[in-house]
Parts: sequence; structure tokens; C-alpha cells
Amino acid sequence: MVERTLAILKPDCVKKNLSGTVIARIEAAGFRILGMKMVKLTRETAGGFYEVHRERAFFKDLVAFMSSGKCVPIALEKENAVADFRKLIGATDPAEADPGTIRKDFASSKGENIVHGSDSPENGRIEIGYFFSEKELIENR
Ligand code: RTP
Ligand code: MG
Repeated sequence: MVERTLAILKPDCVKKNLSGTVIARIEAAGFRILGMKMVKLTRETAGGFYEVHRERAFFKDLVAFMSSGKCVPIALEKENAVADFRKLIGATDPAEADPGTIRKDFASSKGENIVHGSDSPENGRIEIGYFFSEKELIENR
């Protein structure tokens, strides 16, 4: 089934000048880019995005990191997009990520892991809506 998923190039990705490299991998894997922008999240916006993790011990660090620099949210579409994107980026902790995945190749730690990917088709749609209006999502088929 054709699905949508939200990628976010996190502040470590942008600061390391890896945005183009990571986008190239995403495109090479067959994802269609429906929308893309550069944003600087506030602590409030970052906290709202990761609301499900609010009670977790790592929440404060996560919010500080995600608001520490510019991010690039990217709305993606593809057959089986959610699972395929999670496979492309690898496990949350780069030490546990498979060889050849984006996190394995570029992430420095579990906290600073280069890229976000939605964890379900439903959350993909919700998270895309967090950053993009309908008219900012342009189908190019
Ligand atoms: P993401 O949402 O960013 O794509 O990451 P994920 O699904 O692989 O992992 P998730 O469990 O949703 O956690 C969100 C982000 O919180 C940070 N984290 N730190 N120190 C820790 O134990 C820990 N656990 C999670 C990571 O940066 C993770 O990407
Ligand atoms: Mg997650």
C-alpha cells in the first residue's frame, strides 16, 4: 500500500553538512519527496512533536537536542513507506543499527542519531501534518 511517512533531518545531520548525502540516500531508495523545509524548533514545538515520550527519562535531553539547531522535515511517499524508511535509517542506537543504514554510517549516539522516521502509517500522516499544510504536499507522479 502507498503510505506517507515523515523524515526529519535532525540538528546533528544539518550541522555535519550531511543533509544532501542523507537526502540522496532517501531518493535512491525510491521515496518521493512531497514536501521539504528547513525549520528551527522551539523547545515547545520539539516537546509537542515527541509528546509520547514526555514521561521518559531522556525527554529533556531529546527536546534540548531537537531545538539546538536547524532541522529539515521531509514528507515522503512510497509503497510500504513507514517500514521501508525505518529499515533505511536503522535502529535508534547506531551501535545496534545494521550495516549500510543511515544511522550506522553517520550517527554518533542514541541521542544524536541523524534522522527521525515515523513509526506507523497513522503517525506518518499525523506527523506530516505537524509540519506541512495540505497545499505544501505536492504529488509528482
Ligand atoms: P525517532 O522517533 O527520532 O525516529 O527515533 P526512534 O523511533 O528510533 O526512537 P524513539 O523510541 O521514538 O525515541 C525518540 C528519540 O529519543 C531519543 N532516545 N534516547 N537515551 C535513550 O535511552 C533514548 N531513547 C530514545 C533518540 O534520539 C530517539 O531517536
Ligand atoms: Mg520514534
